[in-house]
Amino acid sequence: MSYVDPSTGQHYSLTEARWRADNGHYLNLAPGPGLARADIDASRRSVWRYAKALRVDAAHAVSMGEGGTPLVDRQWRGVPVLYKLEFMMPTGSFKDRGTTVMVSYLRSRGIEHVLEDSSGNAGASLAAYAAAADMRCRILVPETASYPKIAQIAAAGAAVVTIKGSRQDVAEAALRQSSEIFYASHNWQPFFVEGFKTLAYELWEQLGFAAPDNLVVPLGYGSNVVGADVGFAELVRRGEIARRPRIFGVQAARCAPYAAAFQAGGEHLVPLRLAEQPVACRRLARAGVQAPLERVHHRPQRRPAQGVGGGQVA
Ligand SMILES: Cc1ncc(COP(=O)(O)O)c(C=O)c1O
Repeated sequence: MSYVDPSTGQHYSLTEARWRADNGHYLNLAPGPGLARADIDASRRSVWRYAKALRVDAAHAVSMGEGGTPLVDRQWRGVPVLYKLEFMMPTGSFKDRGTTVMVSYLRSRGIEHVLEDSSGNAGASLAAYAAAADMRCRILVPETASYPKIAQIAAAGAAVVTIKGSRQDVAEAALRQSSEIFYASHNWQPFFVEGFKTLAYELWEQLGFAAPDNLVVPLGYGSNVVGADVGFAELVRRGEIARRPRIFGVQAARCAPYAAAFQAGGEHLVPLRLAEQPVACRRLARAGVQAPLERVHHRPQRRPAQGVGGGQVA
């Protein structure tokens, strides 16, 4: 069990909590054991029923009952669709799937103070789980963040610091402060994505141990998209399903750099529509954000052998 830097292949032990490689590149977790039906701990009603596949000892689980969200059968424009109600989580957002696993890992490594930048949901989630784990927490938010989200973060006992400027300015402030406090970033720390594998496991279990044909997922930085993809890939590896679903990442039209890059067939973020986006995208690229792009990029025409399919839509 280790972290791996995909740019060099270098492995790092999981014993020391880290959020990036020594050369600044993002880290993945090396492929894990995956999950088989018999591995499910049916006595647990949370993402921890899949603990066998998560690289954290369940004895360290900081859990508030996250996961097990309803799958509701409805129609959308005359087409049958299953809606996964991911807002039905302890803090009201899907982020809790990743946060419970990341915080459990960090606490098991002795981390006592965490830092995060967020426009709202990720910060609210981390603040709540840090409180549950008895950790101190500092969340940086843009000064334009919604007041109810700021109140939610503060109510959990975290220190909320508002930062002037764009969302990217907030991320850069967090990078600067990461030398003082452990940077428990939902966009960098790989155990956050590890938690999102449970979206795949849960859908598979709810569908009677079958994969959906298509999965439509909101896409910002990609933790949901990447986590679901890794989870389904593990189920394929264990022989539980024959193939991964096609995954469609959906971005807001006014901020859709991945969708633009995908449509352009490129590997770099492409600015779209908003006047400030060229600057924001150059900054994102400098901060290493082109990295997740490789991870979320599914191009059925160019990688048919992977049998993935899917796409990105703004
Ligand atoms: C409601 C909502 N949808 C989508 C996203 C994007 O998620 P991700 O960055 O994991 O792709 C976020 C997080 O920023 C969010 O809060």
